[in-house]
Amino acid sequence: MPPDKFPKRNYAPRPRRGPPDQQLPPRPARGEGRPPRERRGDPGDHGDRTDRREGRPLRETEFHPPAEVPCEVPPEPAAETAWEPQAGWYDQRQGERGDDFHSQLVLPAVARQLQARPGQRVLDVCCGQGVLGRFLAEAGMEVVGVDASPSLIEAARARAGHRERYVVGDARTLDAVLPGQRFDHAAVVLALQDLDPIEPVFAGLRALVKPGGRIVMVMTHPCFRIPKRTSWGFDEEQGVQYRRLEAYMSPMALPIRTHPGQVNDSSSTTSFHRPLHHYLTALGTAGLAVVGCEELCSTRRGTQGIRSSAEDRAAKEFPVFMVITATRLWRRTSLRE
Ligand SMILES: C[S@@+](CC[C@H](N)C(=O)[O-])C[C@H]1O[C@@H](n2cnc3c(N)ncnc32)[C@H](O)[C@@H]1O
Repeated sequence: MPPDKFPKRNYAPRPRRGPPDQQLPPRPARGEGRPPRERRGDPGDHGDRTDRREGRPLRETEFHPPAEVPCEVPPEPAAETAWEPQAGWYDQRQGERGDDFHSQLVLPAVARQLQARPGQRVLDVCCGQGVLGRFLAEAGMEVVGVDASPSLIEAARARAGHRERYVVGDARTLDAVLPGQRFDHAAVVLALQDLDPIEPVFAGLRALVKPGGRIVMVMTHPCFRIPKRTSWGFDEEQGVQYRRLEAYMSPMALPIRTHPGQVNDSSSTTSFHRPLHHYLTALGTAGLAVVGCEELCSTRRGTQGIRSSAEDRAAKEFPVFMVITATRLWRRTSLRE
């Protein structure tokens, strides 16, 4: 392109129109003589706005309000779907780094999709005992986790480092649980199917995450892993392991036994099945646009018997988890428009 193709713009302020006596006084330069701008959802104490290491004022994009979260842990769960009765079992099962699904599939996928940088604030919705929070905090992120189970929050706090805060709250009222808080990014890991309805969860995420922030959601695959409606089958004639699917389009609330191996334990949670379009429509309606998607296949391998290669092939064909990444749009829109 020839260098003179675009004439250079004159950035000097233009003289205002009208007779001289009606001219307005010149506008103050940026930041001069104007009252500080009230940040949306962040009234009151704005914290220290100086970079302590470099001694310079922070730019708006660098400033994070203090991560004050309620300290008290109420005795009662914040929602009836809280994993309070399962808390001891779940904490033991996840331990410090999560089970093999977490460590091999879920956490690496969240890191890839979140694209968070050290120092950024990440909201972990339905954080459980903090497996994701610990993982992100080790990478330098500041994490606030919310979960409805007081015992899981206690477990998360017991293992937490200085970059992690955990609070009891209902994911469907995030704005009220963390009033005035703002986050660079957010994650909801293996929990959307524990929540009903999901529309208020997405509305809360939209309110708390900054425009352009990424919201990563991991769920058991809503097409191939529907509790009690999908299962493995084996076609002896073809030597093929297949996935049997009995229902998909109908939303369902399905009771799940959480530790089925144990005799005399009837502990269960509810899994809410919804077809994929329900999630995508709810995201769009909340003003969240999908910008990424991954489908994760199990790395677990089955038996050593004659069916093992058919099982391995099937494991590589039918994903266990779906990861959807959305970003906050500047303006709310609706897919129904
Ligand atoms: C399968 S666990 C996943 C926990 C964690 N994200 C992880 O990956 O280990 C589902 C979590 O959702 C939480 N939960 C269920 N309903 C909730 C609600 N309405 N608000 C907040 N948390 C909720 C449960 O207490 C439980 O910790």
